[in-house]
Amino acid sequence: MKILVTGCCGFIGSNFVRYLLNKHKDYRIVNLDKLTYAGNLENLRGIEDDPRYEFVRGDIADEAFVTELFKKHKDDNFDAVVNFAAESHVDRSIMGGDEFIRTNIEGTHILLKNAMHHEVGRFVQISTDEVYGALKPGEPAFTETTRIAPNSVYSASKTAADMLARAYFKTHGYSTFITRCSNNYGPYQFPEKLIPLFVSNLLEDREVPVYGDGMQIRDWIYVDDHSEAIDLVLQKGRPGEVYNIGAENEIANIELTKMLLKHLGKPESLIKYVKDRPGHDRRYAMNSAKIHEELGWKAKVDFESGLERTIKWYIENRDWWERIKTGEYLKYYDRWYGDR
Ligand code: NAD
Ligand code: DAU
Repeated sequence: MKILVTGCCGFIGSNFVRYLLNKHKDYRIVNLDKLTYAGNLENLRGIEDDPRYEFVRGDIADEAFVTELFKKHKDDNFDAVVNFAAESHVDRSIMGGDEFIRTNIEGTHILLKNAMHHEVGRFVQISTDEVYGALKPGEPAFTETTRIAPNSVYSASKTAADMLARAYFKTHGYSTFITRCSNNYGPYQFPEKLIPLFVSNLLEDREVPVYGDGMQIRDWIYVDDHSEAIDLVLQKGRPGEVYNIGAENEIANIELTKMLLKHLGKPESLIKYVKDRPGHDRRYAMNSAKIHEELGWKAKVDFESGLERTIKWYIENRDWWERIKTGEYLKYYDRWYGDR
């Protein structure tokens, strides 16, 4: 297998590359990443020199560039595309949505168009549970047939990308697959997201900003479980299908915050309730029965041990998140790759 994987300098993509190269000795991966603020080459340390791995800096929304990349590989063609590249943070989409539309929608379309045109066998679109909108307490978890109802510019742009993948299957018979996963946690997550932001703040004895009443619920999954599910969809999924991925770990933000405080031995006085996120989705929960029944996948990592492993990683890799928080990581790579 030779796979074009986009967005591998981010959180899930970098963990996915590690997972695939460990699991499949004969896989080759080309990582296409723009190196936005969220892209960090340090996330791939230890992998850069693997002959099965190649990094290409580029923008999925730059059509001329993407077309040239596919052309360059046509004699030793990609077997699949896995598209992680995205603007991924809800709060940033509230501040301004332009990049979300460009990357998440236009970029996905440019990839779909080129992958189909260059006869790449399979296209996996990495999507999110947020396309289903929010659940009320007691409502059943999202299934693949739940009505789509995105509430943020981020989730609306991810929904549009899903609809494009669906349309390429329905109209052109192109083999697209959509995976929708719940909230991931694990190593190398950018410290703007709840778990790495709170853990790193607490390690610096700083306050943690809990939005609103902190009673919003997220359904957490360890990142390697997500990678395993994507790998299965890539190998054995049915074209045109959507697969939900979740680990049945529904936890309210305030409860999770208190777990983090307890793990790190910090006082509850560090909790700071702040103004709520506009349009804040109250609850997500995933029903993963379909991927379990069709592909035999089930999450393996329980939340307690996954969280403990994750916290340990942030303690042991303080230099990694400190360089991000001070902005030093941007300067370092700009020396090699130019301005962002
Ligand atoms: P991330 O923000 O950590 O990483 C995104 C990566 O994409 C970065 O390396 C960035 O440089 C790259 N990128 C952004 N714009 C690009 C462009 N125009 N061209 C090429 N590369 C570009 O994101 P993440 O949390 O790892 O999420 C990865 C994917 O998984 C996203 O599609 C996201 O919607 C989806 N997802 C995330 C979660 C989660 O909990 N983090 C859950 C479900 C689905
Ligand atoms: O559900 C999957 C989604 O999970 C992915 O599609 C997104 O890419 C990913 O960013 C994540 O979205 P969330 O908005 O759920 O993640 P975030 O870490 O930003 O927030 C988790 C919850 O914590 C949410 O209810 C908002 C809250 N929160 C977040 C931050 C950053 C706080 O209370 N305080 C904070 O400072």
